[in-house]
Amino acid sequence: MDKSLHSMIVGTGVGIPNKILTNHDLEQIVDTTDEWIRTRTGIETRHIVEDGQATSDLCVEAAKNALDDAGLLVEQVDVIIVATISGDVGFPSAACFVQKKLGAVNAYAFDIAAACSGFIYGLDVADSIIAMQKAKTVLVIGGETLSRITDYTDRATCVLFGDGAGAAVLQPSDGNRGILATLLKSDGRLDHLLYMQGLGTKCPPSHQSVDAGAHFIRMAGKEVFKYAVTAMGEAAEQILKLANITVEEVDLLITHQANYRIIDATARRIEVPSEKVFINVNKYGNTSSASIPIALDEARKSGLLKEGQIAVFVAFGAGFTWGAAALRM
Ligand SMILES: CC(C)(COP(=O)(O)OP(=O)(O)OC[C@H]1O[C@@H](n2cnc3c(N)ncnc32)[C@H](O)[C@@H]1OP(=O)(O)O)[C@@H](O)C(=O)NCCC(=O)NCCS
Repeated sequence: MDKSLHSMIVGTGVGIPNKILTNHDLEQIVDTTDEWIRTRTGIETRHIVEDGQATSDLCVEAAKNALDDAGLLVEQVDVIIVATISGDVGFPSAACFVQKKLGAVNAYAFDIAAACSGFIYGLDVADSIIAMQKAKTVLVIGGETLSRITDYTDRATCVLFGDGAGAAVLQPSDGNRGILATLLKSDGRLDHLLYMQGLGTKCPPSHQSVDAGAHFIRMAGKEVFKYAVTAMGEAAEQILKLANITVEEVDLLITHQANYRIIDATARRIEVPSEKVFINVNKYGNTSSASIPIALDEARKSGLLKEGQIAVFVAFGAGFTWGAAALRM
């Protein structure tokens, strides 16, 4: 038994809203084209919530599906971690809403705000909790309703984002499968390149802040792109070393699904062949913390990622935050 394996993923699931926003729909809203969006980002459609649907609703669906997949009862859940930057309300946490709606009466629940890297941060925390034998069953959920904080008059951002949730259930490793290594990084000096100001306490909501659109995502796209490519490439290299695996041993690379060109650049950096690179950014756009768990679930359920195979996750997001994880499924 490899003593360094603390926890493993025993189930996954997703919660995806039904409503689809296509590039052609966006052509009717802002000055853009399907061709521009596809060639610059690889995105064709994104799913968005209906009125009344909140982040916790998507997370609950993902969590139920993951628990079913794992063959576990909700009462067995000890911890619920929701990675999100678009929780239902300022507070309490989205995780507490998820706990209530699931009926997870034996769990404690909290959020992690690490933007698009949030799911990897959540995995690391869950792995540590299990390693310290403080819990046996931890739900890690990445869930977002970014459409609520997207400015649909800003063509540079509104074409990118979508809504969704993905969940993974972690339990102690069986000694063969599990998380091989995690890597978490951040650089708060780059906060000004990707942010949403308007709902915080520094500039509390006011008529002026709403008029100025301070409650929407703001991003310096070109700068973010540059940093994302460098940071994700470095993280991919580092996680192979930390996990003590070669690139040939990697069965599937699942990066944060923000932009096809960033995914491609990350794969090229470690020279993973394209058939081992998972892509669904075309269907969902950038769903921030939800993108890796949604991709993971699709990869498992389509048979692309089987038990015993090695997956590498790499993400990058606002903060900036970035990170990676390597695991044997
Ligand atoms: C946003 C992004 C796709 C833009 O692609 P780009 O190749 O950098 O494009 P630029 O920003 O150079 O813009 C090129 C032109 O397209 C225009 N443009 C921007 N959005 C457009 C859109 N949706 N449709 C048509 N034209 C658009 C710009 O206004 C600019 O026009 P100009 O040259 O006349 O000023 C790219 O920068 C990106 O993916 N950045 C990272 C975003 C991201 O992943 N964020 C989340 C990280 S977790």
